[in-house]
Amino acid sequence: MSIEKLPDRERIDAFDKVRGATRYAADFQSPGMLHAVLVPSPIAKGTVVRINETDALAVPGVLRLLTSKDFPEPDPDFEAPTGEDDEDEEEGFSAPSTVVDVIAYRGQPIAVVIAETLEAAIEGAEKVTGEYEEEPFSVVMESPGARREPIDEEITSGNAAEAFGRASVVVDETYVSPTQHHNPLELLGAMAVFEDGRLTIYDTTQHTMGVKNAIAASLWIDPARIDVKSTSIGGGFGQKAHAYGYSVIAAHAAILTGRPVRIVIPRGHIFHIASYRPKSVHHVRLGADSSGRMIAVRYVAEHENSLAGGLSPAEYHEGTPRLYDIANYHGGGIQVRLDRPDAGFMRCPFPHQACFAFESAVDELAHKLGMDPVALRLQNDGQIDPMSGKPYSSRFVTECITEGARRFGWSQRSRAPGSMTAPDGTQIGWGMALGNYPSSMSPAIATLRITANGKTRIAISGHEMGQGIKTTIANVLLDGLDIDPMGLEVVVGDTSAAPQHQTAGSWGTAGCVPATFKAVTHMQAALRELLDGRSVPGSIHRQLATIRRPYLQVEVSEVAPGQAPEALEYLRVSGDATAGPEYPDFTSMSWIAHFVEVRVEPTTRRIRMPRCVSIVDCGRVISPRTARSQVHGGVVWAFSAALREATEIDPRYGGYLNSDLAEYLVAVNADIGEIEVGFVDKPDPLANSTGLKNLGEVVMAGASAAIANAIFHATGTRLRSMPFRIEDLL
Ligand code: MOS
Repeated sequence: MSIEKLPDRERIDAFDKVRGATRYAADFQSPGMLHAVLVPSPIAKGTVVRINETDALAVPGVLRLLTSKDFPEPDPDFEAPTGEDDEDEEEGFSAPSTVVDVIAYRGQPIAVVIAETLEAAIEGAEKVTGEYEEEPFSVVMESPGARREPIDEEITSGNAAEAFGRASVVVDETYVSPTQHHNPLELLGAMAVFEDGRLTIYDTTQHTMGVKNAIAASLWIDPARIDVKSTSIGGGFGQKAHAYGYSVIAAHAAILTGRPVRIVIPRGHIFHIASYRPKSVHHVRLGADSSGRMIAVRYVAEHENSLAGGLSPAEYHEGTPRLYDIANYHGGGIQVRLDRPDAGFMRCPFPHQACFAFESAVDELAHKLGMDPVALRLQNDGQIDPMSGKPYSSRFVTECITEGARRFGWSQRSRAPGSMTAPDGTQIGWGMALGNYPSSMSPAIATLRITANGKTRIAISGHEMGQGIKTTIANVLLDGLDIDPMGLEVVVGDTSAAPQHQTAGSWGTAGCVPATFKAVTHMQAALRELLDGRSVPGSIHRQLATIRRPYLQVEVSEVAPGQAPEALEYLRVSGDATAGPEYPDFTSMSWIAHFVEVRVEPTTRRIRMPRCVSIVDCGRVISPRTARSQVHGGVVWAFSAALREATEIDPRYGGYLNSDLAEYLVAVNADIGEIEVGFVDKPDPLANSTGLKNLGEVVMAGASAAIANAIFHATGTRLRSMPFRIEDLL
């Protein structure tokens, strides 16, 4: 079997979704279920002196009120070793905070009210009051108390300082990306059942193993007694990439009350307790010689974070030095420590901001050199990773650029800013930019069973956030096996069905597709062996029925290139065993080129994006339908990030001011024009057995720079701070 071109199959979960049959975490019910509602801290920092419980407990239907005293200290000896050689990895397991009496940020839960009905729980939670000892706090990067903490490592190649001395053109600018919050349609929430000594948590998470271990460590429970199920997620985007305290709280409440407990976090509270894209400031110095050869980069990125959060600014340098063949690179980073929740992954967590900054700088360089931005980029392409000296597993950047330019009609562009105008005075701008994203891979384990009565079930590592992982798995199965598509069940995100990895960083497909491919070939071999040369007609179900075998089952696992088999053990115990983008013999990245047209109205200065052409190199495309949809989504979000989204932080009281969908602006249908998607679709020969590379997140990389570059081309105004608003062009 080889998978060449796979068909454009419809989503296998679409039918259930459109008729409302898909069950999300908070849809699960159990007889006697109780409701839990969190009480957010009204102060930004300090200590709880007293909680007044009486009024809350007097509400009819309220059963219990839990404060920090009701939660044990997490087990300090709990271990869940990971296979990642991550230098930031703290010692031991770090459990999420649950209910606290020492408040680290406004909105942190200080109590939880458990009641027979949701209404009673809400009313009870509203009646909780407290007395506090308040402390001074710092919540924005500009706060006097913000602590600036440079990262330990410097990311370098060559000698940037020396090379700048040889540069004839230098761009030296600062670019800013604001704080942003993910807003998946599905709110954070869970339902916990404790029965016969086993805990089952229905959660909405990209990391069921992380939730399982968080509960085990926090409540001193053997992880073998915990199952976490997150089988259909209504959007994750990195917000759900790690365990939150609410899952532990639901589990604890279920154990204490002996009844199932559901918890749902309202959107306004999610803004306050969930992770977020941190505001980041990017100082980029970029030098080229007079021929347009880029020779030197100095790039320091700073971003906001909690006092102890791990998200390292070093990661802005995972993609940036690999955009071009630049010999001399110096990268640094600064954590700005604030009294806020942990910053975290939000779609395309580092390259989105880094490519906005760097690809804006490259556009500025092209302008200074008097060069076409396409020509400048083509001239600086290269096949060797300047950071490791190893080749790329595949890099079709030139193909992305030339195909994008062709489809967009780039040759018709007049170069001077402000030189393209519609008859009504609307300014037209054409801009482009590149993006890249690491192509990492997680090991995966799968069990595939085909039955004589027409069913097929694959249980596999990975989570379905809506990106289409189930459809992708199904496409490989249905391509290689003659089975009934209507009888196919794809089980992901269930720790009781298969070991689960944290499904983030776009590595879902790179784990499950090679494993599914292997399951298919093993199944074919097992069937051949079973039939032993007999020719039996019909589908596999029919064949099994004919020879009176109730079912046939194979189990497979797959690790990343160069990974030892121990990686599977890390997958089983922690779910964290990813490898890449640097593998022993190569570096693997996905690439994209965006071409954008913007139109700026002459009077209102309103910015529109009527069209965008995005060409991706993500190796072989496995599921054309969901791949295309990922590109649409990424471009829409880039538009949203560049022109709409910003979370407003309240420096007076802490917390967030626009914590709902009315005031946190996101792109809507009317904002978006035509998005044309193209794939290079050349199999990567090295990355894995199926030739695919990661997709999802790379799409957002560079798209907002293309918009900024198009705005510059339309108006002559260079915008370096997102989001770009009307007032920036007045
Ligand atoms: Mo992605 S932001 O790592 O879920």
